[in-house]
Amino acid sequence: MRVTIKDIARLANVSTTTVSRVINNKDEGVGSETRKRIQQIIKDLNYKPSSLARGLVTKKTKSIGLVLPDITNPFFPDLARGVEDYSVNKGYNAFLCNSDNNGEKEKIYINALMEKHVDGLVITSTHNLEEKHILELMENKIPIVILDRRFKSKDLHGVYTDNFSGAYEAVRYLIQNGHKSIGCITGPLDTSISKERFEGYKKALKDNGIKYNDRFIVQSNFKIDGGIKASEELLKNKEITAIFACNDLMAYGVYKTARKLKLNVPEDISVIGFDDISLSQIVTPTLTTVSQPVYEMGYEAAKMLISLIEGKVLKRKVKKLSTKLVVRESTTKKGIQGDVKLD
Ligand code: RIB
Repeated sequence: MRVTIKDIARLANVSTTTVSRVINNKDEGVGSETRKRIQQIIKDLNYKPSSLARGLVTKKTKSIGLVLPDITNPFFPDLARGVEDYSVNKGYNAFLCNSDNNGEKEKIYINALMEKHVDGLVITSTHNLEEKHILELMENKIPIVILDRRFKSKDLHGVYTDNFSGAYEAVRYLIQNGHKSIGCITGPLDTSISKERFEGYKKALKDNGIKYNDRFIVQSNFKIDGGIKASEELLKNKEITAIFACNDLMAYGVYKTARKLKLNVPEDISVIGFDDISLSQIVTPTLTTVSQPVYEMGYEAAKMLISLIEGKVLKRKVKKLSTKLVVRESTTKKGIQGDVKLD
């Protein structure tokens, strides 16, 4: 049978309030002998305070919820790891929910986490440009940090990377290497990250006097199968000499299509991804990609959330981290074999 606070109180011959004070380290009014006696009984009976019961007293459960859109993408476990490491260090448990890119599932999980009285939420929302449900959440006054994908509302706290500049750098790099017909495989354009990366692509073309061509763009789903289908479409166009895929998984899809069409990467087609998940150093050829500080993003989001839970007032609501282009083997000068480095 589960040992309760009442059992401890009875054995120590004190009130449950006194036991509760010792458990919650609020020792005022409890003599040191009594405290030691209570602590010994707790130890002997291997008593574990119920977080629910404890929450009734402290109004805190020392837990946070983390809602992610797709744990099959290795980007997200790394992100979750950052959230978890910071939270655990601070004495919080992090509960992970995977929405599977399904807006309805996301809402169900958020509600379930609220019912479990988590102290705050870190959310990477799918289709995040429909922000109604998040704004409703804010009315509940629970601390929230939005991670990776931006919402329009200026009231939300968030941690993001500079998706626009990351994409801009990647496409500029291709242009510097002689590519003019550059395909772009975007993610779903109802996410801020896809829009920003696509804007970065367009701006790099514009700044370098290259005309935007609608036929070079395919909207996809951030997955390998989406990258395969999109590149099958794009590579029908023989002009295209390079593809910017808006995440690494879709870039692997381009590799698969290129193999099927007997095209070599990078000699026939240069490929750049976005994320720098660890597999990108291992695939053949290794992938040139825009590196996001994934673990740090998760870590910073948890740091921001726990500060909010602890009632701290933050100087800035948004933390924007930088990306970095990592040049590997999947890109080369148009029509020339060999490695090319940025100036
Ligand atoms: O949902 C997929 C993408 O969102 C990831 O690959 C990463 O780019 C993130 O921002």
